[in-house]
Amino acid sequence: MIDLRSDTVTKPTPAMLAAMAAAEVGDDVYGEDPTINALQAEVAALFGHEAALFAPTGSMANQIAIQLVVPPAEELLCDADAHVVTYEIGAAAAIGGVSSRTWPARGADIDPDEVAAMIRPDGYFAVPTRAIAVEQTHNRGGGGVIPLATLERLRSVADSAGVALHCDGARIWHAHVADQVSLATYGRLFDTLSVCLSKGLGAPVGSLVVGSAEKIEKARWIRKRMGGGMRQAGVLAAAGQYALRHHITRLADDHARARRLASALAPFGVVDAESVRTNIVPLDLTKAPVDALTVAAAARAAGVLVSVLGPRTVRLVTHLDVDDAGIDRAIEVLTRVLS
Ligand SMILES: Cc1ncc(COP(=O)(O)O)c(C=O)c1O
Repeated sequence: MIDLRSDTVTKPTPAMLAAMAAAEVGDDVYGEDPTINALQAEVAALFGHEAALFAPTGSMANQIAIQLVVPPAEELLCDADAHVVTYEIGAAAAIGGVSSRTWPARGADIDPDEVAAMIRPDGYFAVPTRAIAVEQTHNRGGGGVIPLATLERLRSVADSAGVALHCDGARIWHAHVADQVSLATYGRLFDTLSVCLSKGLGAPVGSLVVGSAEKIEKARWIRKRMGGGMRQAGVLAAAGQYALRHHITRLADDHARARRLASALAPFGVVDAESVRTNIVPLDLTKAPVDALTVAAAARAAGVLVSVLGPRTVRLVTHLDVDDAGIDRAIEVLTRVLS
């Protein structure tokens, strides 16, 4: 099977498993796991922040960060397709008591003036806005990369209004490789970031919340309350350390493969190859003779797995476990299915 459903499907490589097996561990609820402590320090430094906290999932890392920047009954702004309001099962409201309001989904294409106009001030009569969240790269937005200039304008908007800026950076590594913007440059623009080791980087588990020492101290307490206090999880942190050292620059290969896939399928009118910047290829089947479920079933029967995101939307994601031969095979199968 060539699995293009997501970049989360990767299996740890033998070298990563060896690093995990060799990890020195301790009880992390006591703060005594040396490998987790080292990973946290490494990631904080990469983003130019004071501290970071290891969390089991990207969803938990996002939700810890949201609770850090938005008090209960106050408001988070994000786009309507953001992971935090689409795939986190209402957690901001259910766990953090946070009210979320969205601007229309256009993926990584954000108008800072539109966001500024949505910000509500303090007052007893309306929910006050406390934070803005963006997603870099944008998952449902076809892996789009928010330009640095847009992020800088959003930072100014947030500063003028006195609200926080959070980055769901599950795939910020991909943006860093695609746009050649340093992680530290991204880091200085946000009050909090969540970054993921298990999407594209190939670790089996793990995300981190990044921020000031004060915020991360509180994050540790929120994580424990959410049931995310882990014990000898240094074996997992070791996979993350390995991924950071060996699997970031190679993301360029995944991006090139995604572009090749998109270029091969573009003649069917289902994707604009130029818009594919990272490892996600969205297929818009609005004008195709087949719908998404038909494409997914026919591709599966021929050994290629794809994701169905809507009745006429399919998503293909390249990653560590799909090589050039896998892309050739996927092109052959999808070309046949779309014909
Ligand atoms: C943009 C984005 N943020 C957050 C997450 C959540 O990660 P997890 O599945 O580890 O909770 C995902 C998962 O795919 C994602 O794509």
